[in-house]
Amino acid sequence: MSCRFDVVTERTGLNSVKWDMAPKAYGCDDLIPMWVADMDFPPPDAVVEAVTKRAQLNFYGYEHLPESYVDSFCRWVEDRHHWAISRDWVTHSPGVVAGLSFAVQAFTRPGDQIVIQPPVYHPFFSVVERNNRVLVENELVVENGQYQIDFGHLEEAFAAGARAMIFCSPHNPVGRVWAKEELEQLAELVCRYDVLVLADEIWSDLTLPGHEHLSLAALGEDIASRCITFMAPSKTFNVAGFHLSNLVIPSQELRETYCQFLQRLSWGLTNTFAVQGAQAAYLYGAEWLDELRGYLKGNVEYTMGELAKRIPRIKVIPPEGTYLLWLDCRELPIPPAELNSFLAKEAGVALNDGKMFGKNGLGFQRMNIACPRQTIEKALQRMEEALKGQQA
Ligand SMILES: Cc1ncc(COP(=O)(O)O)c(C=O)c1O
Repeated sequence: MSCRFDVVTERTGLNSVKWDMAPKAYGCDDLIPMWVADMDFPPPDAVVEAVTKRAQLNFYGYEHLPESYVDSFCRWVEDRHHWAISRDWVTHSPGVVAGLSFAVQAFTRPGDQIVIQPPVYHPFFSVVERNNRVLVENELVVENGQYQIDFGHLEEAFAAGARAMIFCSPHNPVGRVWAKEELEQLAELVCRYDVLVLADEIWSDLTLPGHEHLSLAALGEDIASRCITFMAPSKTFNVAGFHLSNLVIPSQELRETYCQFLQRLSWGLTNTFAVQGAQAAYLYGAEWLDELRGYLKGNVEYTMGELAKRIPRIKVIPPEGTYLLWLDCRELPIPPAELNSFLAKEAGVALNDGKMFGKNGLGFQRMNIACPRQTIEKALQRMEEALKGQQA
């Protein structure tokens, strides 16, 4: 039985980074873009209706972030993640990456060490390095068939003086939804060494059914006072173009520091359409989201099943969240440094090269499966065909 997510929608010509910039980025045409992390699905109808209705009101002057928006977000976090947050803790940024960069500038000093856990979302590297902070890499390790945090090495990094950590939860690109025990172990270290955590929880709503996200800051007051949690409607409802993200900062002192930083930037007002659309999403988007999560789970299972049949040398650890598959291509007969370009040019499939996510991403490709299943089928057929001619 087909559903709304099976419908293929034309997205070219909308200044889409994923669709319109792919030919230039990969140097070829006729690509199936499975790189940039947005979805080939329209957002919930309520979002489109809210934006349309607002557009017809004819006034587009300066707007502040209304309390009704913040309330809708707080209710969402409590309903979906069982974390009761106060309205006063919530502030915003024009995107999570921008917010991370603001936080790095507001809370740390040039030369400070900041921990990230590769393979990880590539802007984490640049947010640290472009702000002249020192990157400390605590690589994830694969143990018992799953990516895990290397707590021993993390403690060494904290003991050696790291001031802050950018924590990806759920984790892009490996798809981990961190378990309560792992979060508790992390919280214990963070509190013991008094580290500031920038918790990027942009994927929190997109766990696959059967996996529940828990916010690090929800574990207790001590850890909450050291956390800045980033959440957003962008990934959840496919509205990254709104450029509206939420920061949850329970500590009054940290909140004041962040607000002073925004004043120095002379930034703080919001976008008319983003506020209306995002509020509608938080108020009315829950059912759509649950349907989406079920569809994404089906896509994950379909893709893993087809890969096992068609290209068994590509291995995948089943993700627990996100709509990204982290393809282990190290057994393919193509040099890791050439594989991404080979897949684009010979198969017409645009994936993210694993090495973007850190040194331990070499030999991997990231595949975005948030698209109608028939698009995945076409991509896998193309990949199988292109790889057939390659000798082992
Ligand atoms: C972990 C993570 N953080 C942030 C972002 C992007 O956030 P924004 O578009 O709000 O800057 C992404 C996008 O894929 C992501 O995976």
